Amino acid sequence: MDQEKRQSIYLQAKQWVLEAGKTIRSRINDPLTISTKSNPNDLVTTMDDDTEYFFAKNIKQTYPDHLIISEEGYGDELESLDGTIWIIDPIDGTMNFVHQKRNFAISVGVYQDGIGEIGLIYDVMADVLYSAKRGEGAFKNQTRLPQLPEKSFHESILGLNHFWLCENSLVEEKVMQRLVKTVRGTRAYGSAALEFAGVAEGIIDGYMTMDIAPWDIAAGIVIVNEVGGKTTNAFGEQVNMLQKNPVLTCNPSIQTELIEDYMKKGKK
Ligand code: IPD
Ligand code: CA
Ligand code: CA
Ligand code: CA
Repeated sequence: MDQEKRQSIYLQAKQWVLEAGKTIRSRINDPLTISTKSNPNDLVTTMDDDTEYFFAKNIKQTYPDHLIISEEGYGDELESLDGTIWIIDPIDGTMNFVHQKRNFAISVGVYQDGIGEIGLIYDVMADVLYSAKRGEGAFKNQTRLPQLPEKSFHESILGLNHFWLCENSLVEEKVMQRLVKTVRGTRAYGSAALEFAGVAEGIIDGYMTMDIAPWDIAAGIVIVNEVGGKTTNAFGEQVNMLQKNPVLTCNPSIQTELIEDYMKKGKK
């Protein structure tokens, strides 16, 4: 994608993200219609639906040849990453949205033939927009984010869900317990997109998740890339953007140790 096309799609995407966020804020105290999906804790609300519909309708009207991968069903069924693809999570952190009315984000990535060109993560209630265009740096609102500094493993903070410490099919629990005891601290924010933004901002040094969909990470990958961060699957291989993956995004200075000494050693 050339710079001019990237810039014009970026401006349009940003406008829609800010508009969708404003609508959510204005309706934040309205009564919610909540349903469940795969299990009783997998929540979805009419706000998730309405927000995704807003994006899908606008994208299809403005860019009839663009494609959409998204969570709530208004996207396309894709078998390849060819073309210009919007990868959208209308509300990332629905559980936070329902229970806390904050700590959730709108996440929009735009990919061209599988390459991440634009990433936007909007922390709606805080009114903070993380954004990046490929090769042009990452920003928190108007402020450019610096390249990630060198970090020692022992002084790192990792974003990880507590399920990593429970019996699971990916990694030995004992190895994950050793990891948690070795690093400085762990956090679980409940929004994959905001955890990617946190890695890009350097307030956490890595985020790992067991089973995450393309819409959770598409924008985050672009933003993290722009500050020198690395994203792979949990075992160091390339992420497949057409399916769910266990994913690790982190400061490059802790990547090798994390993958070799923990993830690969503990792999089941
Ligand atoms: C979820 C959040 C959560 C992560 C889940 C995601 P949703 O997204 O990002 O932090 O642990 O795997 O599904 O359903 O709230 O958009
Ligand atoms: Ca969901
Ligand atoms: Ca999500
Ligand atoms: Ca969602």
